[in-house]
Amino acid sequence: ITINKTIIISNRLPVKITEQNGEYILRPSEGGLATGLGSVYKDGNNIWIGWPGIEVPPERQAEVTDKLAELNLVPVFLTAEEINLYYEGFSNEVLWPTFHYLATYANFDQTYWNFYKSVNEKFKQAVIDNILDGDTVWVHDYQLLMLPYLIRTEKPNITIGFFQHIPFPSYEIFRLIPWREELISGMLGADLLGFHTFDDVRHFLSAASRLSSGKLQDNIILYKDRQVVVEAFPMGIDYEKFERLTTHEKVARHSATFKKSQKNLKIILSIDRLDYSKGIIQRLQAMELLLQLHPHLIEKISLFMVVVPSRDTVPKYRELRDNIDQLVGNINSRFRTLSWTPIHYFYRSFSVEFLSALYSISDVCLVTPMRDGMNLVSKEYVASRTNNDGVLVLSEMAGASKELNDALIVNPNNIGDIMRAIVQAIDMPLDEQQLRMSSMRHIVKKFNIHLWVKNFMDKLKEVKEMQQSLL
Ligand code: UDP
Ligand code: G6P
Repeated sequence: ITINKTIIISNRLPVKITEQNGEYILRPSEGGLATGLGSVYKDGNNIWIGWPGIEVPPERQAEVTDKLAELNLVPVFLTAEEINLYYEGFSNEVLWPTFHYLATYANFDQTYWNFYKSVNEKFKQAVIDNILDGDTVWVHDYQLLMLPYLIRTEKPNITIGFFQHIPFPSYEIFRLIPWREELISGMLGADLLGFHTFDDVRHFLSAASRLSSGKLQDNIILYKDRQVVVEAFPMGIDYEKFERLTTHEKVARHSATFKKSQKNLKIILSIDRLDYSKGIIQRLQAMELLLQLHPHLIEKISLFMVVVPSRDTVPKYRELRDNIDQLVGNINSRFRTLSWTPIHYFYRSFSVEFLSALYSISDVCLVTPMRDGMNLVSKEYVASRTNNDGVLVLSEMAGASKELNDALIVNPNNIGDIMRAIVQAIDMPLDEQQLRMSSMRHIVKKFNIHLWVKNFMDKLKEVKEMQQSLL
């Protein structure tokens, strides 16, 4: 007997290949999709199809395929041209900026679109090569918006779920994209479409009703004789893992070293991928303003800022990196003293043990994106605060702010607002910290990644059964 499986498919696999002296090494991928789903995909005989993160020459593809097979992963190999035009181009120079409300950063290039379609076809072929009747397909994120339609065309009855990890913008923004109708019909190939927040759902329903022949009935779209359900599933994290990590021997060692080096300083933490959606510049400006207006905090606080290298071949990302370098340099040279540096800036990634130590020792966590689908860093900080202390400063533009009401919520465009929140966080009495943190911990614990997967899968099954009962 064969057991039905779930095929997860996303642009990026949960591990990426890096080359060291001609040897291929696997490392965990960064980003919320990979870290969130990475700990749950292995159940049963599930597989995950995706790109391993670098260009692999044809003669080494078999080697990579074998290596990944041990982890139930199936690679889709992209050529340098495809990486350039589909991934950096259409995905990250058209969809990413537009969906994060920065349409002025978008480059609506016809060649990008052509490659987006052909690479989505490539991913479809990988699904077709691995699928058996009765399997379920779960497509992830904005790099693969055409995929539900492409699979549906070839396998009309297969169950297809789609989840988008980034915001879905309001119709007035989405309509700017020249290929808007095709993108909507691509997505409507799914049976269930999931987003992080109710606002994303509303925006999608509105765009779909204007740009397709689909008819709306609450959160259901009647489209080509099928019922497509659209719903919010706020993604969670592996709470237990982050809680458990804090007692790990390696983490304890990292934390002790930190504490010794920072003595009585209040530590403020920020962790993001290099991305203009994350509000890194505005956050630095808020720190600068704080040091100007609250000189008594000099030598009392320190910002640990981790920026994980990301998409740095895309011009806007490179530009951002230069701007961060410059601003950090300016602030440090202006305010530092012989024995103290205001900003400790790291442009690199860290092991999860090191991240856990950072979360554990930081008195304040600053999460101030301009737009963010969810933001898992904020939830990881909360899960790591096993003493119930610490303060989260959170942007109202992050999906997570809909759940984490007990954070200090700020408008990321308001530098003064962020600065005041930092001061409030530093001065917050312990009992108030504990009240807020324990209520947030309760939420992050309950709505964890396991419940998220279960809710999505249960709903997908229900949608399919409903469709079949209508036939
Ligand atoms: N992260 C990582 N390595 C690092 C720093 C961060 O793997 O050195 C992880 C972090 O733990 C989190 C993810 O990257 O799980 C970032 O997810 P988030 O939802 O906050 O933002 P995204 O990058 O998806 O936009
Ligand atoms: C966000 C996106 C993911 C993406 C991740 C890292 O979390 O939602 O789809 O994988 O960023 O970005 P990258 O371009 O390196 O895959």
